[in-house]
Amino acid sequence: MIATILNEYGIKLKQCKADPLVSGLINKTWKITCGDKAYILQRINDHVFKKPNQIAENIRMIDDYLKKNSPDYLFVSPIKNLRQEEMVHHAQGGYFRLFPFIEGSRTINVVSSPDQAFEAAFQFGKFSRLVSGFDATRLHTTIPNFHNLSLRYEQYEDALKHGNTSRIRIAKQLIDDLKKYTYILNAFEKIHSNSDVKKRVMHHDTKISNVLFDHAGKGIAIIDLDTVMPGYFISDVGDMMRTYLSPANEEENDFSKIEIRDDFFRGIVHGYVSSMGDELTEAEHDLILYSGQFIIYMQAIRFLADYCNNDSYYEVNYEDNNLVRAGNQICLLKQLEEKTSVLKDIIKDELKVRSHVFMETGHTSKKWIG
Ligand SMILES: Nc1ncnc2c1ncn2[C@@H]1O[C@H](COP(=O)(O)OP(=O)(O)O)[C@@H](O)[C@H]1O
Ligand SMILES: [Mg+2]
Repeated sequence: MIATILNEYGIKLKQCKADPLVSGLINKTWKITCGDKAYILQRINDHVFKKPNQIAENIRMIDDYLKKNSPDYLFVSPIKNLRQEEMVHHAQGGYFRLFPFIEGSRTINVVSSPDQAFEAAFQFGKFSRLVSGFDATRLHTTIPNFHNLSLRYEQYEDALKHGNTSRIRIAKQLIDDLKKYTYILNAFEKIHSNSDVKKRVMHHDTKISNVLFDHAGKGIAIIDLDTVMPGYFISDVGDMMRTYLSPANEEENDFSKIEIRDDFFRGIVHGYVSSMGDELTEAEHDLILYSGQFIIYMQAIRFLADYCNNDSYYEVNYEDNNLVRAGNQICLLKQLEEKTSVLKDIIKDELKVRSHVFMETGHTSKKWIG
């Protein structure tokens, strides 16, 4: 199958080596090495992305915009095949794309320093800033309602009404714990009517493995652009907070290992605020901390809803996996709340210094280290 796909690009598999990569979770990815040239071949997961053509169209529109307006920016877009198409459809295998392999790049799966948090946030912010002149509403919504908290909450309530009664009983404590966070939902509903919180081109999957780093640890590009669609900045910043701040991830069942690391928080805020610059409005500045609450809360209710729905959405490794994940996220949310005043001070501090940062280089005082 790989040989057939590569033929469409005029590449002979016989002269190349195909190595599957294990770091991606959603798509299936291979590194194709042909002499001194290397590519990334990727099969799109069409269970998650129902309309792969829309992804291709989104990336093409953004690529055209960036080529025209920021020609030096490294935007990793698909290579066109011999028919000048960005995707190849294989009757049994589904949809495939080929990207240039970014030489000298590496990816990491766990954020282990505030510097890495800074670099990633800087890259995601830089992308949104460079496309801020592009009308986000022209993009297809590749996963409808992905970060629509109002709908997620309805689905959660539905699961509590119609789900597995014995599981709902087991989840009672967590359901009660979540009640005090409905103000997060109310705040989300206000965001829709606030025109100062802009609909932007957002990445929507800002986990660290979607950033390419160079060998010196500097961020060089963002990848995995399938979820690039219109959204609010809180989606990207919130997902970074959810996945970078704690040394323990959502699978951890020993909640004593969950922690909000202030210096990593500073890294995210510093990176994002400095790369977005004046692009973020005052109203958006006021939502920086909310970003984390929003995404963590949404993830908690999604895990708990899925637990009550007999694990119909998330893959589970053991009986109570989704219950543990929900408890884990509630614990993270609680810790974020407990640190409100420290974290607000960090944001204030970073908003003050942002004018001393130069977007082109990304060089900053990196003051969280010292
Ligand atoms: N253009 C590229 N250059 C170098 N490595 C890449 C490139 N694109 C993807 N990768 C590698 O492949 C992995 C999976 O790709 P990604 O697009 O993130 O797929 P998934 O949706 O499965 O996460 C990345 O984490 C990275 O290690
Ligand atoms: Mg990825």
